Amino acid sequence: MRRRREIAFSSMDPRIDADHLGLFKLLDRMATHRRAGDIEELNPLLDELLEHTFDHFAREEQMMQTWGYAGTAGHTQEHEAMRKAFIESLRRVVKGDQPVPAFIQHARESFTYHFETADMVFIHWLQTHCEAEAGRGSSLQGQT
Ligand SMILES: [Fe+2]
Ligand SMILES: [Fe+2]
Repeated sequence: MRRRREIAFSSMDPRIDADHLGLFKLLDRMATHRRAGDIEELNPLLDELLEHTFDHFAREEQMMQTWGYAGTAGHTQEHEAMRKAFIESLRRVVKGDQPVPAFIQHARESFTYHFETADMVFIHWLQTHCEAEAGRGSSLQGQT
């Protein structure tokens, strides 16, 4: 399962891969705190997860803008919906309305879906775009 996940998330961009793997490692660490009494230990992990997720989304959005990716608006909207759902879900956990295992399961599923769809579409576009740019660069060099 883990091996499949790592292969599926191999985007060829080390920073994005590190971000995605970091998110899942955090969720794995959180999964070891399942009892209600673990909330004290869980709180810093929840803060870390929130910060890591938001930093990652911002990094991706910046990258998409920098490269002039046509799907930037749609991808950013998806991030925004995930930010809202994430905060709402965290509120329920903190109030004790949602059990931690259910929160982790939901976060894992929504991250996985996003990484395997929107993120992969962007990464594929980026790779194709960079290869085309590199090809143009080498043919220009060849002409001089
Ligand atoms: Fe991502
Ligand atoms: Fe994304």
